[in-house]
Formats: sequence, C-alpha cells, structure tokens
Amino acid sequence: MFENLQALPEDPILGLLAAFRADTATRKIDLGVGVYKDERGNTPVLKAVRAAEQAVLADQQTKTYLGPAGNEQFNALMTELVLGSKHTAVTSRRVRAMQAPGGCGALRLGAELLVTTGAKPTVHVSDPTWSNHGPLLSNAGLVLEKYPYFDARTGTVRFDAMLERLNALPAGDVVLLHGCCHNPTGADLSLDQWRKVADVLVQRRLVPYVDIAYQGLGEGIEADAEGARLIAATVPEALIAVSCSKNFGLYRERVGLLMVLTQSEAQTNASVSHVRKIARGIYSMPPDHGAAIVARILSDTKLTEDWRAELNAMRERMMKLRNAFSAALARTGKAEVAAAIANQRGMFSMLPLKPEAADTLREKHHIYMTRDGRINIAGIDQDLVDFLAESVASVL
Ligand code: LMR
Repeated sequence: MFENLQALPEDPILGLLAAFRADTATRKIDLGVGVYKDERGNTPVLKAVRAAEQAVLADQQTKTYLGPAGNEQFNALMTELVLGSKHTAVTSRRVRAMQAPGGCGALRLGAELLVTTGAKPTVHVSDPTWSNHGPLLSNAGLVLEKYPYFDARTGTVRFDAMLERLNALPAGDVVLLHGCCHNPTGADLSLDQWRKVADVLVQRRLVPYVDIAYQGLGEGIEADAEGARLIAATVPEALIAVSCSKNFGLYRERVGLLMVLTQSEAQTNASVSHVRKIARGIYSMPPDHGAAIVARILSDTKLTEDWRAELNAMRERMMKLRNAFSAALARTGKAEVAAAIANQRGMFSMLPLKPEAADTLREKHHIYMTRDGRINIAGIDQDLVDFLAESVASVL
C-alpha cells in the first residue's frame, strides 16, 4: 500500500528550521519561521508563563477529561481579550469560543464547520496569505480563491482592488482576513479600511473569517484587536480563529480557540454543538496544559500585568529591529523598500525578491527566509544589520 507514496518536499516554513540548524557557518541569520527571538537568538519561556505554569502544576488535582470545548475559563477570558468584555457580541451571547489545538486547529475547526453547513462557500484569501491557510482550509473540502491585497512594489495594501473584488463576490462566500500583523507581508488595514471592509461584508452578505495570531505584537493588545472587534460588532455572522502561540510564547503547547458568532444565542449554541462534534471526530479534545497557563495568567491581575509588560517589550524590540533594518537598507540606496518595511507591522515583512534571490541569500550569505521573500523581523541580529541590508540589497 505505502509503496505508492513518494517523499514530499519539506514544508516551506517549517523546513527552514532544520536547514538553519544544519548550517555550520559561524555567521548565519534565521529570518524563517515566525517565532519571537531575543537578542541571543533564543525563544524564551515568558516569566509570566513560567510562574503560571508552576501555579497550575501545584494546584492541579486531576488530569481527567475536560471535553471537546476544552477549558471554559480559558474560552471566556480569551474572548474578553480579543473582543473586550463589553462587546455587543459578548453581552448578547451571540459569540462562543471553543479551545483548539493552536491557531491551526482553530482554523481547521472553522473550515470543517463551514463545510458542515452544506452552503459550500468559496473562501477568499488575501494574495498572498500564510502558506498554511491553503492546506488547513482546502483539506477540509473548501474551495479557495484569492483577492488582491499586496502591492509588492510599494509594500502597501492594494485597498481599492481588494474592495472592488469583495464587492463582486456572491452572497454567502467567506472572506479570510488577518486580524493584525498580516502574515506574510506585515501590511495591515487601517481602522478606516476595516470599516469599509465591514460595510461591504454586510452589503454583500459575505461571512468574515478573521485569523488573529499576533495580537499585541503590532501596535498593542487593544489596537491590534480593533479590526476584529469592529467586524464582530457589524456583521451578523463571523468566525474568528485565535492563536496564543506568539503573544504567550506557547508555540509547542498548541493553544488557540475558535470563536463562532451567529445571529442569535440559540444559533450560536447549535453551531458550537457541531464544532464539538467535529473536534470529537478529529482529536476528541484539545491538550489542556497551555490553555490552563493562559487562563491562570488572565485570571490573575499581577500575572496579567507581567505578561502585558513582557509582550510590550517583545513588540518594542521588534519595532527597534524593524527600524534599524529599514535605516540600513536606506543606506544602501533602497529607499522605497526601506520605507515600506518601516511602515509595516508585526513579526513579518515581505521583501520584493524572486525565489532564486532568496536561494542566493541562503546559499551565499547564510541568510534564511521563505522563498516568497518573507522575513521574520525578530530574527534580525542587531550587530549584523548592515551585513543583512547589504546582502539583501545585492539581490533586490
Ligand atoms: C509562521 O508563519 O512562520 C508561523 O505561524 C509558524 C507556522 O506554523 O507556519
């Protein structure tokens, strides 16, 4: 049976992890996988996470099952973090959350729910979008199409073209939007643009599917959620997939959630019962540990304060690196690319590079990035910023 299977190439993002580790060069730079790194290139366990983890372990009385929805305290606290406690979707009880194994698990649950409705919607994703959106959504049986999003020359959002496309979509289709820190481009919608998108979604009766995986790493915890909050306050129905991988640094613990918003509390409850059944049929229930840590942090004022301070420090460090790299690129004469990078937000920017140029950077300069030119800003080494800029400029 298995003799029919040919070995596959590595995942375009995760494959870089092993390639970078195997590179024996003394001067090498890892701008690949989207994980936060400190000045030594490490991805540390946050202090608030460590403290919460110890408290969770000390207090834990049982490891019995929780059920497919996972930790309900986590679900409630994370809903509050993303939408705010006074959000109309929350007070009207039209939104409910289900813990999921990471943002990926949440995206897949939402995709399976869309398939379960029988409505057969096409899902429209930004061009470009995160390379795992395709597999996560289409493996559930959904058809994907792209809407115009990024102008590689100016490094900004092609907003008019995006809006024109959304305005031409058939009612009932789904539009996937990045809540903040667009992956892979770093080019985000302004609040005014979110408003215009929300209006089109309502007029065209389109269903937004917001993916928010970097809350707190763009402009701040509240500012980064404004788009998602606005959408949830404007449209009758939405899905929101949330990841705690980056902002809590819980990557390998696989912590995330899917929020389901419908027109009534009863409809939301019915929809969530389907999500529970879907989860039961794939992995039964999500792993507990990471969600218990997040719930501990968010239910404790001091831990929340500590976590917010650490998150702010991560964001500020990335802004500093972003600006340093932009300034270094400007010194090489690449003013337009430099300006675009300075204006983008979050963990990523996308350099206007051909895949072969990314290969040259890896092979010749030991600089690792995905072949679409995406760079993880947190991976920039402050001491090598001029070397990085000159190497990049040589292939731009
Ligand atoms: C990334 O985009 O690099 C991260 O979200 C890691 C992943 O799973 O791809």
